[in-house]
Formats: sequence, C-alpha cells, structure tokens
Amino acid sequence: MTDDVLAVHGGTPLQGQIRVRGAKNLVSKAMVAALLGETPSTLYDVPRIRDVEVVRGLLGLHGVKVSDGVDDGELVMDPTNVESASTDEINVHAGSSRIPILFCGPLLHRLGHAFIPDLGGCHIGPRPIDFHMQALREFGAVVDKTPEGMHLTAPNGLHGTKLELPYPSVGATEQVLLTAVRAEGVTELRNAAIEPEIMDLICVLQKMGAIITVHTDRVIEIQGVKKLHGYKHKPIPDRIEAASWAAAALATRGEIEVLGAQQADMMTFLNVFTNIGGEFEITDARVTRPGVTGVEGGIKFWHPGGELNAVALETDVHPGFMTDWQQPLVVALTQARGLSIMHETVYEQRLGYTEALNQMGATIQVYRDCLGGTPCRFGRRNFKHSAVIAGPSKLHAADLVIPDLRAGFSHLIAALAAEGTSRVYGVDLINRGYEDFENKLSALGAHAEYV
Ligand code: EPU
Repeated sequence: MTDDVLAVHGGTPLQGQIRVRGAKNLVSKAMVAALLGETPSTLYDVPRIRDVEVVRGLLGLHGVKVSDGVDDGELVMDPTNVESASTDEINVHAGSSRIPILFCGPLLHRLGHAFIPDLGGCHIGPRPIDFHMQALREFGAVVDKTPEGMHLTAPNGLHGTKLELPYPSVGATEQVLLTAVRAEGVTELRNAAIEPEIMDLICVLQKMGAIITVHTDRVIEIQGVKKLHGYKHKPIPDRIEAASWAAAALATRGEIEVLGAQQADMMTFLNVFTNIGGEFEITDARVTRPGVTGVEGGIKFWHPGGELNAVALETDVHPGFMTDWQQPLVVALTQARGLSIMHETVYEQRLGYTEALNQMGATIQVYRDCLGGTPCRFGRRNFKHSAVIAGPSKLHAADLVIPDLRAGFSHLIAALAAEGTSRVYGVDLINRGYEDFENKLSALGAHAEYV
C-alpha cells in the first residue's frame, strides 16, 4: 500500500458537509509578506497543504521563526532575525512551488540580496517570469542568472517606478506590491491583476503600515514607506477549492455544503453553476468543532435531478471565470446535454487533462482556435486551448495519472462520477492545494482507499 495510489469506487453521489480554510493563493503570499515586517505576524485559518509547508521551510531558512499558534490553523511568523540562507539550502526547494519568486523584493529590502531557485508549480504551460524580472529591474534590482538559480542585488537600493504589465498577471502584481511597499518613492502599476486574493494581500500590507491605493481600470498606486510591522489576518476562503467541491456535487449528482465558502468571491462561478442547471443556497450552519461553536456561513451546492445544460464559457482574469475553476467544471459538463465550449485564455496548455476524461468515455475535442468568445493571446498559434465537450457521456472507470493540481482534482471527480473502480496514481500532488482531501471525501460518502 502507498499513499499515492487511490482506488476510487465511483457511482455514489457525494453528500454532506466539508469546510474550506484560507485561500492557498493568498496564504502563501501573506506568509512572504511577513518577511517585510519588523515584528511578528499571525495568520489564522491556514490550511495544512504542501505549498504552505514549502513557504514555511523557505521562511525558516531565512531566519523567520515560524510556529503554530494556539488555535488550529494559526501560524505565527517572527522575522526579527532575518538572515541569509545558503544557496544549497534554498535549492532543496527548487521545483516545488512558484512562490519563491515572490521572495525577491522582501529579501532585497531585508538583506540587500536574494537567491531564487528553479521554480516549480503545476505543469500547465511554460509559465515564464519575464514580467517579474522586468519589474524588479525597473525598481533597480540587478539580476544575475546562473545555472543554479538567480542571484539578485540592489546596489543603489529599490526605487518606486511607473510600470505597465503586458497582461494582468497575478504573480507579477504581487511581485510589484511586495517590492514597492518598501521602495523609496511612489510606484504606479498599470494593467494590474485585481483578483480577490490580490485585494486581500493589499489588506495584509495595509495592516502592516503600507499605503496602497487601488484606482479604477487596473491601476494600483503604492507609496513606499520606510518600515512595516507585523499583522494579524484571517485570509479570504479558498474559492478554488469551494468551486471544486461544487463541481464534484454536480458531476456525481450529489449535494455538498461547503462551509466557509463566500458568495462575493464566487459570483461568476455561481452564475455559471446556475446556467448549467445546478442549484445553490447561501447557508448559515450551526457548527461545533474544537474551539468554535456558533453559526458559520457557507454555500450548499446540489444537482437537482434531471439533465444538465451545455454552456459556452471562457476563462479570464478577475472578474471573469477563473482558469482554476475550469478543470473540475469540465467533468460536470461531460454530463450536460448538448455541446459545451470551454475557451481557456489564461494558460495556453491547460486542457491536456481532457485526454484522460476521453479515456473514461467522455467526448471532448480540443482546438487551436479561439472558440465561443473573444479572440485571445493564444489564437492562431500552436496551442490547443479551446475544448468542445459533447454530452451527456456515461463515464467508466480507468487508470489515471494525475498531471497537476487542478487537473488532478478533476480526475478524482471523474473517477467518483464513473461506474466501477478507477486507480488514480499520483494523488499526493493534490495535497499541494487541497487540505485533507481524503477525509473530506470519506465525510461525503465517497468510497476510496489507498492501494
Ligand atoms: N505570465 C507571463 N510572464 C510572467 C508572468 C505570467 O507571460 O512573468 C503569463 C503566464 O504564463 C500566464 C498568465 O501570464 O499565461 C497568467 O499568469 P499569472 O502570473 O497570473 O499566474 P501565477 O501568478 O503564476 C496564480 C495562481 C494560479 C492561477 C493564476 C491565475 C498562485 C500560486 N498561483 O499563478 O493558481 O491559476 O494565478 O489566476 O497564486 C493553482 O492554484 O493551481 C494555480 C495554478
């Protein structure tokens, strides 16, 4: 028996209640922000996932004392003794996450130099870092690329600047925020990403003493300050995980209440969910668990019976339909009557996972053209970034290998919706972003065990 191969016995509707905690894509960045403070920071509701462990390890290497707080999910980060780490130690984390790139600005401010290992993250396309590097250079950083990684210095300090991103990249916007808050002078960032996780990071930085103004039309202005202090913060809930479970409810004809899910951040998803024929209710549930007794909000998602409707969709930056909602939802769309279209406009290679769904009986064809929406950056190039999904299809069990985090969860959902027993290889990858998913699956009545 390993903890990497799961036998999933499909065909049972998922039913019950689970809870999501702080968003992976905010928590990891808020942890990096703690490095900028001169006093300790506390984050609440931190999920136990691999990406958090990676950032915790990197903070530790740089002298930040990270400890668990009193409550479950509470993390205390003390940056009073920030210090340089050796490249060998840092390189242990090479390939494990994309987050190290965000250490550049904070380390340059705290130590005057930074070393960034080879990055990891999901294999969903080339995932370049040119916007990050260009921005850092404009702040005054000098980047020296070596075979072992990137060494950065700022011989004349970091200075505010005017920047415009070629595309509203989440990571590059975070890079600019984390660098500009302590750079000398004012920074104006145009074409910034405005995802809820970015707004929450701005809240964290403001709590630390940063002065950041969000203007209309994706313009963010940051007034650099000399010092920042620690923060206490409860992150926004994980809207990607919440949508993943919603898609699982739809694909398995079940009903899942996701405690902690927040309507405001999921409006676009909820509209699509309704158009497909799913139903939802914003709930206030009475909860009792260690340390918490009371009412907690959430969203209950269910399949009302009958047939689902096909839809035409495209992924986009906020407030559009998130690219990370795409893969789990496509599994549900294999059960809808008619032709659905999914045009992926954020990543050029994020539809490869559909091959596994076809192997299970789905009928999904991928195209290089921009189908069903506005022409995007990937049109007329060699990227298969549009999918046509014909349904409904009866899914049957198969042996599946998990390629990346979100596609991996969609494989799990497909196995749960399929007739028979599937073997899902590489499930450990799901621990990167879904806390305790095995226990959540069993709480929802899924039949699955490690083999
Ligand atoms: N891009 C560039 N150059 C850059 C940076 C980005 O060309 O220097 C391109 C990317 O190749 C991509 C697009 O810009 O085509 C958007 O990438 P972005 O920078 O917005 O993505 P990211 O910051 O690397 C975060 C999340 C992703 C999520 C995207 C989009 C984290 C750790 N990751 O990635 O989440 O899909 O934003 O919302 O926050 C996940 O959680 O599974 C995940 C992949």
